[in-house]
Parts: sequence; C-alpha cells; structure tokens
Amino acid sequence: MTKKKEAYYSKYLQLDKILSAQELRSKILKDPIHDEMLFIITHQAYELWFKQIIHDIDSVIELFKDSYIEENNLSVIVNRLNRVSMIQELLISQIKILESMTPMDFLEFRNLLSPASGFQSLQFRVIENKLGLIRENRLKFSKEPYDSYLNKEDQSGAMESEKENLFSYIEKWLERTPFIKSESFDFWSEYKTSVNTMLKEDIEIIKNNPNLTQEAKTKNLDQYNKIYENYSIIFNKKEYDKLLKTGAKRFSQKACLASLFIMLYREQPILDLPYRIITKLVDIDNLMNKWRYGHASLAQRMIGSKIGTGGSSGHSYLRKTLEKHKIFDDFTNLSTYLIPRSSLPKLPKDLKTKLGYYFNYDEK
Ligand code: HEM
Repeated sequence: MTKKKEAYYSKYLQLDKILSAQELRSKILKDPIHDEMLFIITHQAYELWFKQIIHDIDSVIELFKDSYIEENNLSVIVNRLNRVSMIQELLISQIKILESMTPMDFLEFRNLLSPASGFQSLQFRVIENKLGLIRENRLKFSKEPYDSYLNKEDQSGAMESEKENLFSYIEKWLERTPFIKSESFDFWSEYKTSVNTMLKEDIEIIKNNPNLTQEAKTKNLDQYNKIYENYSIIFNKKEYDKLLKTGAKRFSQKACLASLFIMLYREQPILDLPYRIITKLVDIDNLMNKWRYGHASLAQRMIGSKIGTGGSSGHSYLRKTLEKHKIFDDFTNLSTYLIPRSSLPKLPKDLKTKLGYYFNYDEK
C-alpha cells in the first residue's frame, strides 16, 4: 500500500504561487512605488473572495434546479446566501484599506495600468450574471456591451455565465408556491377585501380629520388614489404585464404574488425559510449596491472627474450602475403591498395546520 503523503501547510495552500504573484509594474521605474503592492494585493484578495461567492452561488443554483426543494436544502440555501452577504460586508470594508493610499501615491503608477481596469474583472461579471443581471438591463459605456472590453477567453467565460441565473430559478420556485389557492381559501380575493377595508378606513379618517383644510384633504385623498392604483396593478395581469415590458417589474405576476404571500405570512413556520431566502437576496442586492457606491466614491477620491483607466466616464459611470444594475428590486418593493397584521385575512384552520407543519406534496 502506498503511504499517503503528509499534508504541509504551505504546499496545501500553494502559497508559492499565491505569494509570488505580486509583480509591481512600477518596478520598471527607477524607484518602485510602495503602494502598488497594496493595490495589487487588494485586487487579488477581492478576486479570491469573488471565487468563493461564485462557488456558493453555483451551489445554490444547483439546489434550485430541482422541481421540489427539500426543507433541509432550503436551510442550506439560506446559509450559503448568508455567507455571500457576509463576504460582501468584508469586501465593502476592504475599500477603506485602499483609501489609505493617497491620490498622489496612486498617480505615481496609475498610467502604467492603462488600459487595464476592474471593468475587465471576469469574476465580477460572472457574479452579476449568475445572480441575474441580464445583458439588456446593463448600462453600456461608449455604446459597447460590457464584454467587448474582455479578451477572447474571458468573453467566452462571460457568455457561459449568462446561460442560467439565480433570478430565473427563484422565479420558477416562487411560481410553484402551493397554499395560495385551495378549496377553502382564495388568498387574493381575501387580500383584496382586506386592502379595500384598510384603505376605506384610512380615507374616512382623512375626511373626518378636523385639523385638515379642504385643500390638504384633497391632496391626501389624491395620494390615496395612487396607493389604490398601486395595489390594483398587481392583481391585473394586463396592467402588470405592461410593467414587465417597461422593465418596472421583473418577476412574473405569479412569482410576485407568491412572494407577497410569503412576506405577509412569514410567521407561519413553513414560510420561515422562504421568507429568509427572499430577505437574503434583498440583502445581497443592497450590499452589491453599497459596494458599488463605496467603489464609485473611492474612484472619485482617487481620480476626481478624470476618465477611468478602462476608458469610462469614471465615477459618474460607476454611480449610474447603482440604480440600473439592481436585480431583486421587485422583492425590495414588496413593502408597497404590505398590510398591517391586524388586517391580514385569517387563514382557514386546515391551511394553518399545513403551514404549521411539514408540507406534504402528495396531499395536493
Ligand atoms: C484606486 C482604486 C480604484 C480606482 C481609482 C478604480 C476606478 C475604477 C473606474 C474609474 C472604473 C470604471 C471603468 C474604467 O473606466 O476603468 C472601475 C471599474 C471597476 N472596478 Fe475599480 N477602481 C479601484 C479599485 C478597485 C478594486 C479594489 C476593485 C476590486 C476588484 C475594483 C473593481 C472594479 C470593477 C468590478 C469595476 C467594474 C464595475 C462596473 O462596471 O459596474 N476596483 N474602477
């Protein structure tokens, strides 16, 4: 029997490769620039964490591929998504370390980097694509698609990562949500009644408020008409589909309604994990944006209003990605449709029992 080779710390981690991979371009100058080391190591640390994020997102996508996801897999998904958000927090805090390099120090070696840029980070694009940022929704710079700035090999890696994404799997999973309609319970008609009652009560309060002038009352009531419209759109397939076309909504109406149901009844044990998945995806989207904001501010601090080494309008391009590149905004906007617990339709006893215990698909 061959003896198993003993593991050795630096060999196992292949530190020889990692620790010899910091090649300062400023070495070609007479005096290498001290802070270029920090610049390289920061980017490399980012890329390593990006690798871990992709590893976790891939595993979550794999689990969502099943047409039926077991309860214990849902908790694995929550854990992995939670880990992604923890890594994102770390990545955001890393910006601070790079800010210890002054703009003058950066200027010393910045020109040596052109035309390379973080814009060419394949792994960053893979994360965006796998989460569900689609090509049509991307901001173009210089009217060119994002991958035109990548080399051939990275272009095919980016294309590959566009093939499937978490957003689509989440949408399909939500569309399969059981419970919403059963013989004894039609959630939507109950919900509509509750919303109508709640809005009518609010309108009566405004009408009878002696402290409001007629003008203020009219203004408030107009506002309520808008709120009413907002509520009614999600029940009207035709109107909802118009929003899908304009890009104001991304999830199908069915998925949107299912996520609303989950949000409203999140305290029911069986909806706890789905609720946490939705919340984690909102966290990931928000943290991605927080990083984008921090990075745009870093870029402005370092280069002011100069163009980036990759050729974009610099921080102004980066700021624009904040709104445009959000993926799970539909989840964030669910708050529009929440109603107070006291107005929630009461669940029938049989459904409450199902939601309280393990749901058995055979019972359909
Ligand atoms: C001195 C520090 C930095 C400056 C001045 C800076 C500046 C910029 C600028 C101006 C852009 C826009 C594209 C261009 O024209 O080049 C950009 C894009 C980008 N940078 Fe940085 N960056 C810095 C550090 C970092 C770090 C540490 C990372 C970590 C990986 C990073 C990742 C990226 C990514 C992923 C993009 C593409 C963003 C997008 O298109 O949404 N950058 N950067």
